[in-house]
Amino acid sequence: MRTALNAPAPIPGHLAEDIEAIEISLLLEAIRRRWSYDFTQYSQASIRRRLDQARRAAGLAHFSEVLSHVLHDESFFDRLLGAMSVTVTELFRDPPCFRALREQLIPVFKTFPFVKIWCAGCATGEEVYSLAILLHEEGYLERARLYATDFNRHSLDIGEKGIYPRRLVERYAENYRQSGARAELSDYYSSSYDFVRMKEFLRERIVFSHHNLVTDGVFGEMNLVTCRNVLIYFDKPLQERALGLFSNSLRHGGFLCLGARETLQFSAIAPLFEVQDRRQKIYRKRGVPAHG
Ligand SMILES: C[S@@+](CC[C@H](N)C(=O)[O-])C[C@H]1O[C@@H](n2cnc3c(N)ncnc32)[C@H](O)[C@@H]1O
Repeated sequence: MRTALNAPAPIPGHLAEDIEAIEISLLLEAIRRRWSYDFTQYSQASIRRRLDQARRAAGLAHFSEVLSHVLHDESFFDRLLGAMSVTVTELFRDPPCFRALREQLIPVFKTFPFVKIWCAGCATGEEVYSLAILLHEEGYLERARLYATDFNRHSLDIGEKGIYPRRLVERYAENYRQSGARAELSDYYSSSYDFVRMKEFLRERIVFSHHNLVTDGVFGEMNLVTCRNVLIYFDKPLQERALGLFSNSLRHGGFLCLGARETLQFSAIAPLFEVQDRRQKIYRKRGVPAHG
């Protein structure tokens, strides 16, 4: 059933759902042509759900009204874009994955003078700070540069500042302990009122930048690419595009780490990789690693 307020009487021969599907497809087309953000290859059930929430929050009855705002109001579009991306994340999310990165990858990195790491779909930055903490504890942070990218500018701003609500810290500290902590999480932030701020020596190793996995190109010569809990929102062809991008961004012998519900299996680039850790979704690009 149509959920919109003040829904008109259905046109004979068309279900309300059909009309809504037409409106949504026109809306996605408008977003693509007006703002160059392409959501047509995202999993449509989740896009529809998020658009519906945004429409209700804006007090609009139909998606065609949303379309009109999208075309003519940039700040409306910015808010809509925020609502369309799921930015849920944590410090040391999925602790066993960080344990595996610590135990299996850092010993390899230590054979190189310098490493580059790309954290794609970084949301508000917790994943990349977790990686920076890990590298620091292994005495390797000074020899690493971390690139954290997302298409959500608001999330990138938060990541760049490294400021997070204090109420989340207890859960993050537990994740950190489970990942094989070498210190206390509180060693890595300073507290002020209801917030914590990640320490400068971590922030200065990270470059946050805007990058859209649908339209933008490779980040060259990476030793590790992490893209966790992003591909689940994409349809298969877009997943393939992103995986191709990661493969082309990695050096031979470089690592790719995906999220718990994502896999390289069945993808076109699978033959280019060997499995490093099946459970933690860590893969290694075949070929002789170039040193330096
Ligand atoms: C659920 S968060 C994952 C955050 C983090 N990687 C983690 O696992 O905790 C998904 C992120 O992917 C980003 N994203 C979605 N589509 C994207 C695209 N086309 N290009 C870049 N980032 C995208 C969203 O903005 C969001 O911040």
